[in-house]
Amino acid sequence: MSRRVSSKWKKTAALLKDSNLSDYVPETVRMSNVSLRTLLKKYEMVYIKPVAGSFGIGVMRVKRTEEGYQFQVKERVRSFKDFDNMYRSILKNTNKKNYLVQKGIHLLKHNGRRFDLRVMAQYAPNRRWETTGIIGRVAAKNKIVTNFHSGGTIVTANRLLSGHTDAVEEKLTSLSKLGVTAGKAMQRAFPGVYVIGLDVALDKSLRPWILEVNTSPDPYIFRKHPKKSMFRKIMRYAKSYPKSRA
Ligand SMILES: Nc1ncnc2c1ncn2[C@@H]1O[C@H](COP(=O)(O)OP(=O)(O)O)[C@@H](O)[C@H]1O
Ligand SMILES: [Mg+2]
Repeated sequence: MSRRVSSKWKKTAALLKDSNLSDYVPETVRMSNVSLRTLLKKYEMVYIKPVAGSFGIGVMRVKRTEEGYQFQVKERVRSFKDFDNMYRSILKNTNKKNYLVQKGIHLLKHNGRRFDLRVMAQYAPNRRWETTGIIGRVAAKNKIVTNFHSGGTIVTANRLLSGHTDAVEEKLTSLSKLGVTAGKAMQRAFPGVYVIGLDVALDKSLRPWILEVNTSPDPYIFRKHPKKSMFRKIMRYAKSYPKSRA
């Protein structure tokens, strides 16, 4: 069994503390009226998400516009002239949950739909961290989240990246390294963690950004990968995690 850490805030704080990883994490703070206002002054677009969320549920995209502000939940976009009015309306959608605000990354698109990548890294039977799979997730039309459980589709990273660069293999190699570095850092911060799934966004310069670390990532999305040995290895490693904490 691998330990599960549910607080996005604790996991993000662990990444930010690590000098090898902090550059890859978009600025993230706890949400309040003031912190959302502050980040929206700094960035024209931000994401807000529940500290303890998953499956893309409750995630919103907030932006500054010429006329004021806008936020989107699911496919619905609402516009406001005034920040406080918008904030009140956002709170009606948060179900009293704690939220984070994060600098928004303009995700690359595939056939007009946003996509990001899932990087799976595991503590291997040889007691070293290894990236065992990378796969792409494409958002449903007009959606702001790529999660499979919110209507996203699984597409190979190769297919998604080849529309944006000739250096696909180099990109995948550096993402694999990022997975290993993040795995080690998470295990250091949270002993008993043997698997992580990074949600990685690429911006238009193809720079990777870690949007979140999952400590209980769904292995089954890798069943869709044409390279069958990938899913087999993921499942084999999943059965081999140490009983006691490493
Ligand atoms: N800062 C961000 N910039 C752009 N897209 C984001 C950002 N944060 C989240 N997203 C989108 O929303 C999805 C869900 O957010 P995530 O933080 O992974 O929460 P969840 O636990 O619900 O999966 C991401 O996979 C990504 O598509
Ligand atoms: Mg996620």
